[in-house]
Amino acid sequence: MTADINKASDRKDPNSPQALVWNVLVRIGHWLLVLLFFVSCLLVFMFIGSPATLAQTIDPHELYEQRCSGCHAPHAGEYVHDNLKRLGDKIVGRDTGMELRSFLTGGHGKLAPGEIDVMFAHLASILEGGALFRERCLICHGRAVALARSQIILRDGRLVGRYTGRDIGTFLENHGRLKGVQIATVIQMLERQLATQTAD
Ligand code: HEC
Ligand code: HEC
Repeated sequence: MTADINKASDRKDPNSPQALVWNVLVRIGHWLLVLLFFVSCLLVFMFIGSPATLAQTIDPHELYEQRCSGCHAPHAGEYVHDNLKRLGDKIVGRDTGMELRSFLTGGHGKLAPGEIDVMFAHLASILEGGALFRERCLICHGRAVALARSQIILRDGRLVGRYTGRDIGTFLENHGRLKGVQIATVIQMLERQLATQTAD
């Protein structure tokens, strides 16, 4: 009887070597879990954080205003209107007839390779949508970038009136005298104005 009781209390003794080893193992386990948690948080931030910050680093409007407007028109919209035109499937300078992309890759404006892509896409989209916007919308709305950023938001991939909640694609079917594919062109240009907006 007494022997049995002694054995039972042995097992429960918190100072027994087995119990000490077990305690240490449990502690190490806890710290490993905590460490694992922080490492995974770090990884998640690295993966989610970097593309977002990269996408926001180049605002083409600012890029134009910093790197081109010193010698050309103050805003890219006016510049494109006065200096660029479409020739077949190319965009060329009105005076030189030179292709825009090769002009920029040739070192004009001193843009880095990534900036050339951003600038080219920006000027091309302005040329297409901008021509229509100037003809049909400018007289009442002023610059497209101002209209887009003050009146329109992007919700679930669609343009929606910031204050009216209207679907802008549907709205333009009966506003501004656009027809068929012209609506898509203007929508795309407005989307681009919003997509290239930095957090300001
Ligand atoms: C230091 C002044 C200067 C800066 C900065 C500059 N340009 Fe120019 N650009 C000129 C001059 C001058 C011409 C006309 C002479 C020529 O064709 O080289 C010109 C011509 C052009 C042309 C050809 C226009 C045509 O009608 O054929 C394009 C396109 C152009 N610039 C785009 C840009 C862009 C985009 C930027 C900004 C990244 C830029 N430039 C920055 C001075 C400048
Ligand atoms: C004759 C003047 C006039 C012209 C031209 C015009 N608009 Fe408008 N637009 C208005 C007025 C006025 C409003 C505000 C009244 C309203 O919401 O119906 C408006 C509102 C808008 C809105 C905001 C809609 C919302 O729900 O918040 C957008 C976007 C818009 N116009 C785009 C365009 C585009 C794109 C064109 C060219 C294809 C164009 N407009 C041409 C006068 C014009």
